[in-house]
Amino acid sequence: MNEKQNTKHKLYIETFGCQMNLSDTQIVQSIMLDAGYLLASSLDDADIILLNTCSVRDNAEEKIHNRIETLFHLLKKRKTKNVLGVIGCMAERLQNNLLSSNQIISIVVGPDEYRKLPELIKLAFDDEKNIAVNLNSAETYNDIIPLRTNEISAWLSIMRGCNNFCSYCVVPFTRGRERSRPFETIINEVQQLAKNGVKEVTLLGQNVNSYSYSSDISENNSPKKFPQLIEEIAKKTPDMRIRFLTSHPMNLSLELVEVIAKYENICNYIHLPVQSGSNRILDLMNRKYTAEHYLDLINLLKNHIPTCAISTDIIAGYPSEKIEDHHATLDLMREVRYSNAFMFRYSPREGTKAFSENDDVPEAEKIRRLNEIIDLQNKISLEENQKDIGLDFEILVENPSKKNPKEWQGKTKTAKSVIFDNSEATYKSGDLLTVKIIKATSATLFGERI
Ligand code: SAH
Ligand code: SF4
Ligand code: F3S
Repeated sequence: MNEKQNTKHKLYIETFGCQMNLSDTQIVQSIMLDAGYLLASSLDDADIILLNTCSVRDNAEEKIHNRIETLFHLLKKRKTKNVLGVIGCMAERLQNNLLSSNQIISIVVGPDEYRKLPELIKLAFDDEKNIAVNLNSAETYNDIIPLRTNEISAWLSIMRGCNNFCSYCVVPFTRGRERSRPFETIINEVQQLAKNGVKEVTLLGQNVNSYSYSSDISENNSPKKFPQLIEEIAKKTPDMRIRFLTSHPMNLSLELVEVIAKYENICNYIHLPVQSGSNRILDLMNRKYTAEHYLDLINLLKNHIPTCAISTDIIAGYPSEKIEDHHATLDLMREVRYSNAFMFRYSPREGTKAFSENDDVPEAEKIRRLNEIIDLQNKISLEENQKDIGLDFEILVENPSKKNPKEWQGKTKTAKSVIFDNSEATYKSGDLLTVKIIKATSATLFGERI
């Protein structure tokens, strides 16, 4: 454990990237508070600024480089000493190059080295720059309770890292090898969240359904897998809504589908990235399934959980992608009918297998294909949402909508946002209520209390 610092230094973290990073930010805040540092309510109030960064696509890194430049000019004007650190995936990927890219950066810390932050920040105030980027396949931060500020919904990392090495992806390099947290501590943490009034937990991992934990390696102690974990959580905390991200098609078993179907409190929603509908491209991507196998899984899900909403990730313009491959992706989307999709154009990442392949789809064509994918998905999302009109859904009330404070927002178990009238403030965050859907756009449902 870190020695407690007697300091008035205040920390502010800006978080980029995926939910794992949001969760890691809470872990870092917890480590820093424990070491005696304070948390700032805003950038203006802070003298320690950390950027928790993402490397997944070039434009993600570009955004962070721009942010560092802006902070450089902002912090230069300050009279007092400040520490700017880069942590997370970009720290792991760029290492020393980050330190030399801008004189204002004084620490660079990768995802498995956050326990060192209090000490490295102390040294940075004494003008000592440092870099800590070792990956450690034993590190799960299992003993650290993340600093959660949302009282209703909680993120909970159950594993870290990734072993899949999809050809395009930088994550196995920035996050290291896959490792799962102990079964019992996860259950205990969810039970504690329930006691604290949390209503929804999202279990996180790069490949959450490959969760596997064994306390020792004796013969009769087979590892605990994801279906067992989620079933145990569903049983022990029956009032907790349970979500999980991200599932890899390769690890989606019948057993898991049956568990999702069996428990009311496990949300009938799954994020199951397909990436492409072309078998040739899927093979090049090292995704380890075919479009046919993927569609079998979708049928399995739909047969067991008819109301299940399914979302996906898609990459347009992978190296050597022909127009037929692109059309295969559009065909697959028409067949699955996703409720929602995250759609990207291929971005070469140094160090990955695909980086050595010829990035031969011209940028304008990548954009054209991507737009076609986005347009199709918008159309499908709208049609799928319109099917909900006239139906009743239980929603978990979240917060006032951005546009109109009298209208509030909640989420269905299928992860769809519903806007409803709350002008008399009858409902507060965390309430469950049933609404009838009266209107739908491609992104939002509108409900009426019943
Ligand atoms: N572990 C998750 C998510 C990883 S990153 C999974 O396996 O699904 C989120 C998404 O970013 C990926 O699903 C993929 O669609 C996209 N992505 C990853 N690397 C990319 C790259 N080099 N170019 C474009 N999109 C990429
Ligand atoms: Fe990247 Fe593939 Fe791992 Fe997801 S499963 S993090 S896409 S390597
Ligand atoms: Fe980005 Fe790292 Fe997440 S690369 S998507 S922040 S695991």
